[in-house]
Amino acid sequence: MARIRSKRAKIAVIGMGHVGLPTALGLASLGWQVLGVDCSPELVSRLQAGEATFYEPGLADLLQQHLGKNFLPVQDLEKAIREATILFLCVGTPQKTTGEADLSQLEAAARTIAQNLNSYKLIVEKSTVPAITAQWIQRTIRRYANNENGRKHLDRIEFDVASNPEFLQEGVALDNISRPERIVCGVDSDRAREILEEIYRPLSAPLLMTGLSTAEIIKHAANSFLSMKISFINMVADLCDAIGADVTKVAEGIGMDPRIGPAFLQAGIGFGGYCFPKDLRAFIYLAEEHGVDFSLLKQVEAINERRSELFVKKVRNALWVLHDKTIAALGLSFKPGTDDTRESPSVRIVDRLLSEGAALRLHDPKAMPLLQKVFPPQEGRLTYCDSPYSAAQNAHALLILTDWPEYKLLDWNQLRATMQLPLILDGRNLLDPATVRSAGFEYISIGRPEAPGFQGTASSV
Ligand code: UDX
Repeated sequence: MARIRSKRAKIAVIGMGHVGLPTALGLASLGWQVLGVDCSPELVSRLQAGEATFYEPGLADLLQQHLGKNFLPVQDLEKAIREATILFLCVGTPQKTTGEADLSQLEAAARTIAQNLNSYKLIVEKSTVPAITAQWIQRTIRRYANNENGRKHLDRIEFDVASNPEFLQEGVALDNISRPERIVCGVDSDRAREILEEIYRPLSAPLLMTGLSTAEIIKHAANSFLSMKISFINMVADLCDAIGADVTKVAEGIGMDPRIGPAFLQAGIGFGGYCFPKDLRAFIYLAEEHGVDFSLLKQVEAINERRSELFVKKVRNALWVLHDKTIAALGLSFKPGTDDTRESPSVRIVDRLLSEGAALRLHDPKAMPLLQKVFPPQEGRLTYCDSPYSAAQNAHALLILTDWPEYKLLDWNQLRATMQLPLILDGRNLLDPATVRSAGFEYISIGRPEAPGFQGTASSV
């Protein structure tokens, strides 16, 4: 413990993706010597050159601050394992077509750890994984270390496995890391508990110590519960649309109940991103594997999958025929504050409108360079524009697909002047209906009445 307390022990963070890189830099900010390991030579050399490999507010500055001092991006996993005492596993756990998590990257990392165990290691699983993965990691390390032609003797080289699920949200990841609402650690030894307490003590956040599988379940349960809140409010929004009530007020009203809380009750075109859809499917799969009927979560998923189609239907209802209509779409990332378009409902909607023969003019403050690589421009059909005003040119409708705050501040008169029809469909309830209607727009949103009566305000009487 003396080496840990004095921070002489090194940390290796394995996997430099959306979780690994912010985690590594967060640990470097706490004063640890951190090796950032990734198997991609291209990614490692970009990091070594000081380039943040994806957009996350504050990440580039933090990289500059620690690079070459106490953060070292490296490709050699074996050497990193031998040099470090604490190994954070942040490798990808993509999903298979069945919904099951593909744990092959974790298994490969566990094998490499086994073959390079030269002293005590604490292996901390941070990637989102199904319950009992930590036990598999333990078993794999024991098995492969023993299989090294008798050269390794596990009775002399100790190791612990811990589960420390990451709850960071893209766009505010560094804030989540430096000021977490809670830290969950699953451990099965005092040594692992003490090391994790030592690492996280400076953050003075509530620390919940549990068993290994409990910590793993907490991550999946948290993401599934939040997805459930979103699908719930989206169904309420459909009902509000049908009977002329305002879902934002319903969300406010139910969110005032501390048992419900106001967060994650924003109705819209549904949730996306790398975590929610994948983790939800993996949790459903885990329940099925263990004979537990969690069909509630299947509904959460099904409701979410219908959201983009429902929005396209709203666009169709507003424009009648989509073929040859020009549509401006603002926002492509799955949420604001990131350039990540994985499982983005915006991209699904753009794709759907294209297949119906509409011409799309797209804008996003951050996501366009990456998206253009997988979704290339098409002459006269799919145009990436450098501003929302350019996207709106000659458009028959303007869609808000990601709630980037800057879209709230647009000059509506200038936009209206460039469009063929003054029509806005807001898939995120981002805009103030009165503001855009007074600028002469027809405005359609999600679960908010088109001709509002008395809307009311929250005040204490
Ligand atoms: C999520 C979890 O919040 C985080 O704790 C976990 O570590 C990783 O997965 P993230 O994927 O970054 O984080 O995004 P999040 O902010 O949770 O949003 C997910 C999706 O839900 C986005 O598409 C967002 O637009 C949508 N959403 C969120 C809603 O539609 N309504 C809401 O009220 C909140």
